[in-house]
Amino acid sequence: MKEISLPKASQLTSPNPVTLVCTQKPDGSANVATVSWWTYLSFNPYMIAFAMAKTSYTGEMVRNSGKVILTVPGKELADIALGCGTTTGRNTDKVSKFDIKLTEVGASPIKIPLHSKVAIVCQLKDYYEVGDHYLYICNVEKVYGDENEEALFAWNGYAQIHSLK
Ligand SMILES: Cc1cc2nc3c(=O)[nH]c(=O)nc-3n(C[C@H](O)[C@H](O)[C@H](O)COP(=O)(O)O)c2cc1C
Repeated sequence: MKEISLPKASQLTSPNPVTLVCTQKPDGSANVATVSWWTYLSFNPYMIAFAMAKTSYTGEMVRNSGKVILTVPGKELADIALGCGTTTGRNTDKVSKFDIKLTEVGASPIKIPLHSKVAIVCQLKDYYEVGDHYLYICNVEKVYGDENEEALFAWNGYAQIHSLK
């Protein structure tokens, strides 16, 4: 083995997970951002975590409202996942720009994209500064799934998004 950078390691671990982190803006509209750095943390109680750059608009929404839904996108959402990972909700209405069809999940005020395979409805518990990111630790309130959707993954690090097939 030879010594490599951590970004290079993230290429070598491809395919990496892909989620769409959904939040509600102050005007009630939805924002969607692509996040690979997430993990299950605990099954008792249900907890998950994800890391987002300090500058991300999503992070600001989560810190302000405490509410967030993490979704695993199905295969139809590949272009949307790439688009939502390369624009910020700070200056872009991603829902109209990428023509994202939204649906409700349970009683949550936050809408999620149609064709999601998994949706994890969360309440922020804590967040910590971790270098250039914040790590968001969340309590899970509800979990929804659709076995018929085919999950997406990030390839070549985070450059491409497509399913395993
Ligand atoms: C495949 C992929 C994975 C990504 N994973 C992360 C991640 O784990 N954490 C992060 O902060 N940004 C990640 N990004 C970049 C964010 O999605 C991007 O900065 C986005 O503009 C944030 O949007 P927001 O400002 O509306 O929150 C990823 C982008 C792509 C394309």
